[in-house]
Amino acid sequence: MKKEFIFLGPPACGKGTQTDKLSKYLQLPHIDTGSLLRNEIAKSTEEGIIAKSFIDKGQLVPIDLVATIIGKKLANDECKNGYVLDGYPRSLEQAEKLDEINSKIDKDNEVDFKAIYFDIDTQILIDRIVNRQSCPVCGEIYNKKYKPSKKEDICDNCNVALKTRDDDTEEIAKKRFETYHEQTAPLVKFYENKKVLYKIDANGTIDEVWKRLIEIIEM
Ligand code: AP5
Repeated sequence: MKKEFIFLGPPACGKGTQTDKLSKYLQLPHIDTGSLLRNEIAKSTEEGIIAKSFIDKGQLVPIDLVATIIGKKLANDECKNGYVLDGYPRSLEQAEKLDEINSKIDKDNEVDFKAIYFDIDTQILIDRIVNRQSCPVCGEIYNKKYKPSKKEDICDNCNVALKTRDDDTEEIAKKRFETYHEQTAPLVKFYENKKVLYKIDANGTIDEVWKRLIEIIEM
């Protein structure tokens, strides 16, 4: 059966960290809209230039731009057994768009679709954001406080200098939280109504959250 996972939760709740582990564990592609958009920005494409103007303000990038990127990815052969989708959907409009995309690509498939919601105490999240670093080569996510690299500021896997995201300032993070509460949080109810929502306690260490996630995945 094809396995499709989407993840909901506020900025820095640990979605990227856990979905990266999950995609390796299940051998399914990890599709992360934030990284896809940052790649477009790094290449200075037309889409990247538009995306940057929204990301820098902590707002959602226009729906059509993201839907085009996601639609192409999900229809790709690499997703024939399923996918781990991180960062999409982020609004009711995007959730309806995802239903539309899935109804086309899954017309001949039996699908196990799970929406996983990371329930977390939001007070700790700004501290995680301002201490986050990531590798520009392999994408591994680190944290100066909570998951430091072995050699300061250097990726353990690639031995290159770690980068800080431009939107990981306290000021932009506050805007991202407002956007999350206004536009993304209503999706919890949306997926609850469809009876595909699984809530996990995302407080605690990376390993503790991973154990809780695996229990749900293997249900
Ligand atoms: P995106 O890159 O998706 O950012 P986000 O949703 O704000 O989520 P984050 O990446 O900040 O956090 P995360 O939950 O993945 O946490 P992580 O694992 O890194 O999106 C960025 C922007 O792109 C958006 O603001 C928007 O503008 C645009 N965008 C993206 N998708 C879009 C869409 N669908 N539509 C429109 N626009 C879109 O963890 C955070 C830190 O904490 C790390 O340093 C990590 O090491 C650490 N950490 C993780 N887990 C733990 C733990 N259990 N204990 C301690 N530390 C931990």
